[in-house]
Amino acid sequence: MPLHKTIQYNPNTKILIWKITESFDALFSEVLLKEKTLTRLQGMKSETHQRAFLSVRKLLQETGHNDLQLHYDDYGKPALDNENHISITHSFDFSAIILSDKNVGIDIEQRREKIIRIADKFVDDSEFLFLNKENQQDYISKLTVIWGIKEAVFKIRNEKGISFKDHIFVAPFEMADLKAEALLTFENLNVKFEISFEEIENYTLVYAFEK
Ligand SMILES: CC(C)(COP(=O)(O)OP(=O)(O)OC[C@H]1O[C@@H](n2cnc3c(N)ncnc32)[C@H](O)[C@@H]1OP(=O)(O)O)[C@@H](O)C(=O)NCCC(=O)NCCS
Repeated sequence: MPLHKTIQYNPNTKILIWKITESFDALFSEVLLKEKTLTRLQGMKSETHQRAFLSVRKLLQETGHNDLQLHYDDYGKPALDNENHISITHSFDFSAIILSDKNVGIDIEQRREKIIRIADKFVDDSEFLFLNKENQQDYISKLTVIWGIKEAVFKIRNEKGISFKDHIFVAPFEMADLKAEALLTFENLNVKFEISFEEIENYTLVYAFEK
């Protein structure tokens, strides 16, 4: 399937989501890749990862950009040649990009029961207060949103030493809100983030903006 969904969040911010059903060859034949990208692609161990990586280039082409304009800093944060910010995510069957005039972060995660087992590693006590473990479906949904928020915030700030549990805090929210707020408290920083999220099939998409 090609482009799954486009969200025009505001006049200067667009989210594009790809459902990855094509073969490696089909995707590969439709994208223009620079030498450095080809080398990276060839070094990937799984075809699932390669297809996701190629689907991101398809998304980029949907926006009128291409791989030649996409660069990475030493930490792996992507940037475009022009003034737009970009953030990238992929998880099994889906990939997504967000393009904005603001610094943004995006994350897509598959909702899985196993997130319950690692909750202690990324959820702070203040967040456990608004989570209800008894309602397992809601618990998994909210844990996945919290995880996605922390990944998205991390992708915006891209600073060494940030801990999901100790430095990024999510304010109480309900799944129906489709919005949330988060705070990054790290060294001398105190930064608020505005969050949007939604569920797409068995995946959760989250994107964040610095306030
Ligand atoms: C880098 C990181 C954010 C990637 O997230 P992920 O969920 O593994 O993978 P995603 O598919 O959502 O995102 C991958 C994309 O993020 C982008 N990315 C990688 N490093 C990045 C960084 N430092 N800053 C911003 N974006 C980054 C890249 O575009 C990458 O895709 P690409 O290389 O194919 O273009 C994540 O692996 C990470 O390091 N997180 C912080 C560490 C941490 O605290 N983890 C858990 C603690 S309990």
